[in-house]
Amino acid sequence: MERFIDLKSFNTFGLPVVANYFVRIAHSAEIKELIENPVFKENRRLILGGGSNVLFLDDFFEGLIIQMDNTGWEIINEKDEIVYVCARAGTDWSFFVDEMVEAGLHGLENLSLIPGKVGAAPMQNIGAYGVELKDCFHSLEAFDLQSGNIRVFDKPSCNFGYRSSVFKHAARGRYIISAVTFALKKNAELNTSYGNLEEYLKQSGIKNPGIKELSEAVKTIRQSKLPDPRYVGNAGSFFKNPVVHKLLLDDLMKEYAQIPKYELGNNTYKIPAAWLIEQAGWKGYRLGDAGVHDKQALVLVNHGSASGREIFALAMKIQLDVKTKFGIHLDPEVNII
Ligand code: FAD
Ligand code: EPU
Repeated sequence: MERFIDLKSFNTFGLPVVANYFVRIAHSAEIKELIENPVFKENRRLILGGGSNVLFLDDFFEGLIIQMDNTGWEIINEKDEIVYVCARAGTDWSFFVDEMVEAGLHGLENLSLIPGKVGAAPMQNIGAYGVELKDCFHSLEAFDLQSGNIRVFDKPSCNFGYRSSVFKHAARGRYIISAVTFALKKNAELNTSYGNLEEYLKQSGIKNPGIKELSEAVKTIRQSKLPDPRYVGNAGSFFKNPVVHKLLLDDLMKEYAQIPKYELGNNTYKIPAAWLIEQAGWKGYRLGDAGVHDKQALVLVNHGSASGREIFALAMKIQLDVKTKFGIHLDPEVNII
């Protein structure tokens, strides 16, 4: 157990937060020991992967940071076309996807280059370019911090939704996810239908991409619009894309006929929050070192020395402005600590 650790390199907003207590978990067996420790019992705790979806409000974390650092993956079973691969929670997500793509195992290629670690991926059912984690999720292993027991979650018990799961809501903070198992395919049709991706492949003259070409295409698109946290602090999309009823959309379309929308069924539509934020005039905005990315309006950035509260205050201003202008509530995707 370490004391007074600077978390600047452990959160992609690059905020210089000091943690009162910090422990690194290199093997999942260490969790059993940890939960008997008085520091664990008596303190507020936060489980941290790569810190790419958190915003610390304060510069001191009065509690215990549990950093998942158990790495590695293995094939645990094979059945006909399906290969079951188990990855430990501390494995870098992007590295893991690259390894699967290299091995020719299909399912994760559209999720290339998402920052963070494997253990956090089920937390918000990560998604990109038409694919979500749940599409090739098999099960996960987690430590129940209340009972001290290990529990295996199958897909239904994770209650996955758009950027949500049981771990993000009903069971928030209760489980440490220690490993995730994926059901990948030796052969499968690639998913190239996401607008941007389809367009990019067309423009690049790629007709029948292989799994590696698709992964490279996703990486190129991502790099062209999302800021690299090594140079500009950010946590990806700050808000979720809102889902609205047809009645509200019809009203909006009277004024904004060109509003982008994706039909979800049941008279509901998903509207890109980036579009709403851009229309409201925030794209590229900067106040001090807190700002809105100039290539993707859904990404809030730390240009250098913004505080967590400054970034949060900007987010709240945007939220209020979008609500006032469009009558739509934007729900943060990032975990506010
Ligand atoms: P952290 O930020 O460390 O943690 C996130 C949450 O999960 C916290 O509440 C934490 O307590 C909890 N948690 C972490 N590990 C565990 C564990 N082992 N057990 C239990 N709880 C845990 N997300 C997308 O879905 N799609 C994208 O396309 C995408 N693009 C991004 C691009 C950029 C540039 C950035 C910076 C972020 C992006 N994100 C995206 C968000 C982020 O990458 C994902 O949410 C990722 O899964 C977070 O992983 P992490 O290890 O950094 O989690
Ligand atoms: N748009 C704008 N202005 C912008 C950016 C986008 O108007 O500055 C509009 C355009 O109409 C565009 C649409 O928004 O077609 C969608 O944009 P984009 O394809 O960039 O996707 P997004 O909806 O902004 C979501 C995810 C991303 C994910 C991409 C690709 C959420 C909250 N975000 O963003 O995930 O990478 O799709 O699939 O669902 C993340 O979760 O952190 C994240 C980056």
